[in-house]
Amino acid sequence: MADILVLYYSRYGATAAMAQQVARGIGEVDGMQARLRTVPAVSTVCEATEDSIPEQGSPYATLDDLRECAGLALGSPTRFGNMAAPLKYFIDTTGSLWLGAELAGKPAALFTSTSSLHGGQETTLLSMMLPLLHHGMLLVGIPYSETDLLHTEAGGTPYGASHLAGTDSDKPLTDAEQRLCRALGRHLAETAAKLAA
Ligand SMILES: Cc1cc2nc3c(=O)[nH]c(=O)nc-3n(C[C@H](O)[C@H](O)[C@H](O)COP(=O)(O)O)c2cc1C
Repeated sequence: MADILVLYYSRYGATAAMAQQVARGIGEVDGMQARLRTVPAVSTVCEATEDSIPEQGSPYATLDDLRECAGLALGSPTRFGNMAAPLKYFIDTTGSLWLGAELAGKPAALFTSTSSLHGGQETTLLSMMLPLLHHGMLLVGIPYSETDLLHTEAGGTPYGASHLAGTDSDKPLTDAEQRLCRALGRHLAETAAKLAA
């Protein structure tokens, strides 16, 4: 089995719910399994550090998770139309992988959650692509053969999966959003399998 790393940050649980669906899509592809990892929150107190193992949810990601994966699904809630600082903070620790081009040629896909419908889903997904392109990763989106893209009234973009979480960040994923998350995971895993063949 090859692992696809599903690496996400989630404050209120919406992006975590998306990660579960992306992981399901990955698991639908022969020979592929999801490895779910998160990152700790960033503290405003310089000296504060999280326990090395979180109390609940996915384990924290390490550079070895990135090194070992056959592909990457990266998920973040929107923060002012951009990815959240904890995820960016982790990505900013990947300089050694970048120097060694260790992620070059691996496929990657993105997912995000916003409170408002026009609050920056596409800009967040595009901003998340930039560091991955510096790493030489190959970006996988969602093709319009996934017809939910044409009809969704919540999240779902060709640039990656997305979710409209609402002002209280508590809206559940719609059926279409769930299908698009799974489609993203499936396309990513299929691409990784083709590249490995
Ligand atoms: C500092 C901050 C900035 C945010 N910026 C945006 C924004 O630009 N657009 C938007 O629609 N939602 C914005 N939100 C709402 C979050 O995106 C929302 O809480 C998140 O999608 C919920 O995902 P989660 O449950 O995975 O944390 C912001 C939230 C915070 C705390």
